[in-house]
Amino acid sequence: MTDKATLTIGDKSYDLPILKGSTGPDVVDVRKFYGDSDHFTFDPGFTSTASCESKITYIDGDAGILLHRGYPIDQLAEKSSFLEVCHLLLNGELPTAEEATKFEHNITYHTMLHAQFDSFFQGFRRDAHPMAIMTGAVGALSAFYADSLNVDDPKQREISAHRLIAKMPTIAARAFQYSVGRPFVTPRNELSYSENFLRMCFSVPAEDWVPNPVLTRAMDRIFILHADHEQNASTSTVRLAGSSGAHPFACIAAGIACLWGPSHGGANQEALEMLEEIGTVENIPAYVQGVKDKKYKLMGFGHRVYKNFDPRAKVMQKTCYEVLEQLGINDPLLQVAMELEKVALSDPYFIERKLYPNIDFYSGITLRAMGFPTNMFTVLFALARTVGWISQWKEMFEDPARKIGRPRQLYTGATQRDYTPLEKRG
Ligand code: SDX
Repeated sequence: MTDKATLTIGDKSYDLPILKGSTGPDVVDVRKFYGDSDHFTFDPGFTSTASCESKITYIDGDAGILLHRGYPIDQLAEKSSFLEVCHLLLNGELPTAEEATKFEHNITYHTMLHAQFDSFFQGFRRDAHPMAIMTGAVGALSAFYADSLNVDDPKQREISAHRLIAKMPTIAARAFQYSVGRPFVTPRNELSYSENFLRMCFSVPAEDWVPNPVLTRAMDRIFILHADHEQNASTSTVRLAGSSGAHPFACIAAGIACLWGPSHGGANQEALEMLEEIGTVENIPAYVQGVKDKKYKLMGFGHRVYKNFDPRAKVMQKTCYEVLEQLGINDPLLQVAMELEKVALSDPYFIERKLYPNIDFYSGITLRAMGFPTNMFTVLFALARTVGWISQWKEMFEDPARKIGRPRQLYTGATQRDYTPLEKRG
């Protein structure tokens, strides 16, 4: 195997080192190429560009493989817990029993918010989209924790990570309760992470809240499935924001803003609204024709990396069936989703374009069955993805090669020209 690439421009040749990973594609190191050749490389959307070196998550889009620190996502979803996966993503290994107890204690005892923080929600209209509230609220957290400003201090990075993982459920539940006019619910330390979140979302002061172990397990598994996903758009946003040394809470707020987009984390809400628009199995052929006519995209289908099935979608589909069965719900939208998946997977238009269901296709039906309104779906995605964002942010600070991100451009605008006075403009 060669360890360099040679690029020839005119009568000059440039040797570019090839760097090898533990698995997956090797990379051509172009860091010195501009300095040597006065040429930039060009890759809008960065789909052929490795922005960093990472040990956290590996994706093989053709084989439908997703590994977190080497562990396959389906094994983690079946056998692990979200807090255990948080420890794995942050620290590189599954925790020992002692480490698990200590980590769970650290997270549990950071779930509360400053009392002053609750008044922050009052500034929003009741009909504000919960993602707008999350973007604002998480950014505002940086005003409450000035003690974790030194991002070069590993201990302060660790406390910021613990605070974010712990407080996201409390903030997300407050965004939900505020939007439906219910009183805020304080976290309880005797409950597990997912139980605590479901109680903060669905309990009312008028009666005791009884946990449902099947729904708790489903919530925990949904969080695992959404925890991290390599250098996706929102993770790259967090890394770029963090590269300037910005406050970690502000960087996570930037990630939330990016995730909200319908092409990214907003797709779970769009996918359910698409199923509601289709309404019945009989309407599927006409809707699919509209996709082929490029009137709209099939939400919950396709992926920038997976050109085969999304391994998370299979676990999400299984979880969907379990939740609907547990709740005794016969959701007609599930029939529409299953038939739409069957039609798309057998249609040359989708096969040629390698479009398969992604994680967002079945998550909406599941979350709706659990009692969440569609505008909360991406909030749950952001809650889960926080550990991925902050793990990648932490890894960036542990990289001695770290520097502020600063992409360049291919400039095609006006070349230099002199100012034209108003009276001389045509
Ligand atoms: C997430 O990056 C991540 O890892 C993201 C994520 C994570 O965990 O962080 O996995 C979460 O964002 C999942 C994706 C959620 N988005 C959606 O479900 C929205 C619908 N999907 C599309 O918008 C689209 O598939 C993207 C944005 C996800 C990917 O877009 P690409 O990379 O531009 O797709 P492509 O280049 O492979 O498209 C090839 C062709 C094009 O058609 P032609 O111009 O060749 O005729 O497929 C078409 C596209 O127009 N196409 C679709 C389609 N997705 C791509 N056509 C219909 N429906 C779709 N969903």
